[in-house]
Amino acid sequence: MSKEQHPVLIIGGGLAGLSLALRLAERGVGVTILSKSELDEGSTRYAQGGIAAVLGDDDSYQSHIDDTLQAGGGLCNRRSVEFVVKQAPRAVEWLIERGVSFSRRGDSGDGGDEFHLTREGGHSHRRVLHAADATGEEVEVTLEQMVRGHDAIALLENHIAIDLITSKKHGGINANNNANDNNAGDNTCLGVYALDLKRKRIVALPCRHLVLATGGASKIYLYTSNPDTSTGDGIAMAWRAGCRVANMEFVQFHPTCLYHPQAKSFLISEAVRGEGGVLVHADGRRFMPAYDSRAELAPRDIVARAIDLEMKINGCDNVYLDLSHKPAAFIRKHFPTISARCMELGLDMTSEALPVVPAAHYTCGGVVTDLDGRTDIRNLYAVGETGYTGLHGANRLASNSLLECLVFAEACAARIAAELQRDAPDARMPALLNWDESQVTDPDERIVVSHNWDELRRCMWDYVGIVRTDKRLARAARRIALLQEEIREFYRHFRVSNDLIELRNLVLVAELTVRSALRRKESRGLHIMRDHPQPAAKAVETILIPGQDA
Ligand code: FAD
Ligand code: SIN
Repeated sequence: MSKEQHPVLIIGGGLAGLSLALRLAERGVGVTILSKSELDEGSTRYAQGGIAAVLGDDDSYQSHIDDTLQAGGGLCNRRSVEFVVKQAPRAVEWLIERGVSFSRRGDSGDGGDEFHLTREGGHSHRRVLHAADATGEEVEVTLEQMVRGHDAIALLENHIAIDLITSKKHGGINANNNANDNNAGDNTCLGVYALDLKRKRIVALPCRHLVLATGGASKIYLYTSNPDTSTGDGIAMAWRAGCRVANMEFVQFHPTCLYHPQAKSFLISEAVRGEGGVLVHADGRRFMPAYDSRAELAPRDIVARAIDLEMKINGCDNVYLDLSHKPAAFIRKHFPTISARCMELGLDMTSEALPVVPAAHYTCGGVVTDLDGRTDIRNLYAVGETGYTGLHGANRLASNSLLECLVFAEACAARIAAELQRDAPDARMPALLNWDESQVTDPDERIVVSHNWDELRRCMWDYVGIVRTDKRLARAARRIALLQEEIREFYRHFRVSNDLIELRNLVLVAELTVRSALRRKESRGLHIMRDHPQPAAKAVETILIPGQDA
């Protein structure tokens, strides 16, 4: 079997994809990883604050569970929360065993060789393990090196997945796979069509198990902390193939992205507030204590909303995050990446406050899965930010996301390995039809794509932001419907490109987000509706079903 015909295909090279690939390879299972850019380009690489896990003697599982449930505004799936919190110490140990180096107390001058645990909003204990302020880079680089050298892992970089190939949509193709026992009906995932961006040709990639680890969808917004890869491709592909998606209205806005004309998407970690940073106006006035007794360390939804309101009340474009009361050496040691980047931009955080604004950061909803990552389609899984297990509820607790990637990657690997063992010994790869390009030509007006990208993202920012109203959501729904029609037309007639594939996914995910938001006639967690300011008596997930809710 050639490397490209490994039985498992993982789409995505972030922490979810890489850790799953290694977990499978460690079990002797061959894997191909597809990534639309270089392997390391995704949100994981930019993660700053760290990974939450109960490690300190003064901490407890119950406290981490309670903090997660509390941040989640009554909408978390308790089973998922308990599962993740209890697996967390083992999950981070796995990373450490593979060479990931986390900061120790001695490194930052706090003394001792134990891990330095930082603090973030919504956590009642110091429990965030970190590699200074560049945790994601440390994790991604370490795992990437292992993956690149592994015999059982093949890489297809610069390949963007377009659509899943399923038995239902491509009837008559021989699936020849054994069935899972989940509730998948008769729809089986057989592979994926992908555009090879270097050779500019579309390939049909067969597999026996396919995992969506494509990250989130924060690029539906004009301003985001996320890299360009976060276009919701996995969520869109899964929906088109027939999977349910849930809680798409819960978009997390990170309170503190740097506000600077040259700093596209640069985050100022919540750990800056965890280590004593305060939010102030230009005149030095602090405002968070008036909003919440936890002040700057309240959960993100509360802090982002307070900043949004303060900006509106005071008519200002940004607020400031000030850590300059701490010793300069402390700041540079704890936040080497952030302080260096700010310095490049002419901002010295050791002596001045940093201009910050909220920006779209994390997709709490996603493709509905069980605790092994299984979706509604047989042999199709979703893990990491793409998946929805109910862990985050109405608002994700800081640093629970990298943790989620690790924990569900392991559960998913165990499940896939067991399924492969159960398969018949002569199980073969499915035969797939080639992509049909007979009806399309080269696009005549590429400007349509870039124009629609901008319009969509501005529309989401203006009408589906931190505080929502029925009227604004309805306005967004109308505009998105028009954009969707234009993009559909374009897609039908012209050859696909990277931008067109992403735009088609963005507009679909935006539509699912607005549709979910319109359904939720209450304010809860990240979904704040001016017309419905109170939470409903009962917390209910928003689950959209393809076909029924299309
Ligand atoms: P990603 O890391 O985003 O990886 C997705 C992968 O899928 C990429 O390789 C991408 O190229 C690929 N892909 C996507 N679509 C396609 C396609 N169509 N075809 C082929 N490949 C595709 N969380 C924490 O817990 N702690 C933190 O400190 C933290 N800090 C953060 C800081 C920033 C600036 C950001 C943006 C996020 C942060 N988060 C943090 C959130 C966390 O980083 C992400 O939720 C997590 O890394 C997601 O991992 P993932 O593997 O699911 O997706
Ligand atoms: C941060 O460092 O503020 C990001 C943490 C997270 O998104 O969990």
